[in-house]
Amino acid sequence: THESSQQVVVIGTGYVGLGTVALLAHLGHRVTGLDIDAAKIEQLRRGEVPIYEPGLASLLAQQADRVHWTTDYAVVAQADVIFICVGTPPGPGGAPDLEFITGAAVGIAPHLSDRSQVLVNKSTVPIGTGDFVQRLLEEHSPHFDETRHFVVSNPEFLREGTALGDSLYPDRIVMGGAPEGVARLTALYAPLIEQTFAPPAETPRPESYLRPGVVGTTLQSAEMIKYAANAFLALKISFANEIAGLCERVGADIQEVATGIGADARIGPRFLQAGLGWGGSCFGKDTQGLISAGREYGYPMPILQAAIDVNYRQRQVVIEKLQRHLKTLKGKRIAVLGMAFKPNTDDLRDAPAHDLIQRLHAMEASVVAHDPVAMPRARREWPHLTYTEAPDPASALRRADAVVIATEWDEYRGLDWPALLLTMRRPLIIDARNVLRSPLLAQIEQFGREGPSSPAE
Ligand code: UGA
Repeated sequence: THESSQQVVVIGTGYVGLGTVALLAHLGHRVTGLDIDAAKIEQLRRGEVPIYEPGLASLLAQQADRVHWTTDYAVVAQADVIFICVGTPPGPGGAPDLEFITGAAVGIAPHLSDRSQVLVNKSTVPIGTGDFVQRLLEEHSPHFDETRHFVVSNPEFLREGTALGDSLYPDRIVMGGAPEGVARLTALYAPLIEQTFAPPAETPRPESYLRPGVVGTTLQSAEMIKYAANAFLALKISFANEIAGLCERVGADIQEVATGIGADARIGPRFLQAGLGWGGSCFGKDTQGLISAGREYGYPMPILQAAIDVNYRQRQVVIEKLQRHLKTLKGKRIAVLGMAFKPNTDDLRDAPAHDLIQRLHAMEASVVAHDPVAMPRARREWPHLTYTEAPDPASALRRADAVVIATEWDEYRGLDWPALLLTMRRPLIIDARNVLRSPLLAQIEQFGREGPSSPAE
């Protein structure tokens, strides 16, 4: 029989958890979001969404009658499918901390019932965690039965800022585990796999999109796919950045080079954007996670280590570019446009702007920073940094000796740059995201495409 509407519990209400709640409710399932953070659950009950993610609040509001919020694990007893979407922050030594995974498994276990239930792990977890979760359930549940309870790994590939589109129209769905468990999850996802749901107004189906690839694997392979995918993307960016540095020296243009190599279907054009490198909560954590897994087995991973080194070198390259033009940075006024680790999010985790502001301040430059969305969060999360907030990009640039574009917000692309340059003390733009290519702007330092050696005065 085709199971249509199922009862689902989603544990953890971060990016992955909230995205999963919204997706499954939109597919027609009844979903309860569970978090141990009571304040967050209260907020969600009031209809407030604690993170900034385009379209998420409105989708959750549309599905409000199918969605419930709780802090009580007792809801697990009624669930057909239970998703674990808790965080796995890096612990000491780079290996992910399984404290929250353990907490979720131990919370779920006593409430497992004698109906058939699937436990789906969506958190990014070290290889072997599926088995570990199963063991915790066995130990802590009187009802656990391998013939009725199935642990499946179903990694999440969504990006912040485009979470809903990525969830509704994924490239592939990876499900690893026992065939019965995978079959049950396949039934839950049927409308997604067949693309039979009505696309939400804010997140229409892309024209060329057909349907996701479905990849069934073992538990361990699914866990590895998540890490390997992120590590490969991180590597691709670092590769572009390493080539960009050489482009600068030999007089080639990385954007032309990326276009030229990306046109080869085996390489592909995406994730070859050179600049300040990656930030965010995932690439750094997952590359480190793989390296630390390798270390556990006495297996060095030099390619991944190099990708990390190149990534963080890019942050220093910006400082060097400023020094080349301005000589000493002491007493210089530097505008930093963009604080979030990428556009369309207020997420500041591992944001390159953080290191940039910190280093500039250490060199006694005065920093004026702007971000269209992330400034309130920066005030809370970066109290240790010294900078002045600018209410808009124009105020940031006024009398500045240089401006660094650290995040490629659309708003920055559309500025009247020629007019703004006239308000600066020196018209120097360090375009650290390669977003401006106007011939009017002679003094842009692009990454991988050297500007003139001294800014026009
Ligand atoms: C990343 C992956 O893209 C998702 O598939 C994955 O699900 C997610 O991690 C995760 O593991 O949770 P995310 O961190 O949200 O998603 O952000 P991305 O859009 O991938 O960007 C990561 C960073 O790379 C950003 O700082 C971005 O500016 C940088 N980037 C990206 C570049 O520097 N160059 C590029 O060409 C592309």
